[in-house]
Amino acid sequence: MPALFITFEGPDGSGKSTQARLLAERFRREGHPVLETVEPGGTPIGQQIRRILLDPANQELRAVPELLLMFAARAQNVEQSILPALAEGKIVVSDRFTDSSIAYQGAARGLGWDTVLQVDRIACQGLVPDLTLCIDIDTETGLSRARSRNRDSGSHEARIDQQAVEFHHKVRDAYHELARSEPGRVRLIDGSGSEEEIAAKVWDVVRIELESRHN
Ligand code: TMP
Repeated sequence: MPALFITFEGPDGSGKSTQARLLAERFRREGHPVLETVEPGGTPIGQQIRRILLDPANQELRAVPELLLMFAARAQNVEQSILPALAEGKIVVSDRFTDSSIAYQGAARGLGWDTVLQVDRIACQGLVPDLTLCIDIDTETGLSRARSRNRDSGSHEARIDQQAVEFHHKVRDAYHELARSEPGRVRLIDGSGSEEEIAAKVWDVVRIELESRHN
């Protein structure tokens, strides 16, 4: 199988991290080498940047530095982990990537898609996911899941989840817009139902994509 770059996207509390893990496990069971990664994070430097970005104490962080920190973590991840893994023929499964910056910083923070894409050109060296699975969930349902998870874990990563519900509506709308504007790459997957049901829908999309690449 050729190297493949698959990203998972979705609003907070959509269940995308679980689905990213389940897909990576499935590829491994079938004998494919996989790199699982996460944004922001994915490298030791990225993890340090993630702490700054998500710490609820950092209320003064402005939109542009937030965007640049997201891409600082991403640029490190692209160079240090993702491109080398793809060069080795691995399948890379990333929990979020540039589409998150489009939805959160571009749309919800109001910086605009073009600004995000300009930074992307510097940070990602032209790397675009082959397939993006966007787990779609009703905003209120996702937020209440994300917030109860934050309460249980001590809220160390709650800064962005804490934004008003209108912010999160804009995030979801942006994902719908991305799916409309790039239907070949970005696929919306209904995130209601059990983990297994959603994983089955994810696999259907991935399987069809793999088959089309073989032909
Ligand atoms: P996570 O909870 O899915 O790990 O994501 C962390 C938070 O960071 C989540 O609220 C979405 C946000 N985020 C952005 O705002 N922009 C980005 O580019 C990325 C990758 C995440």
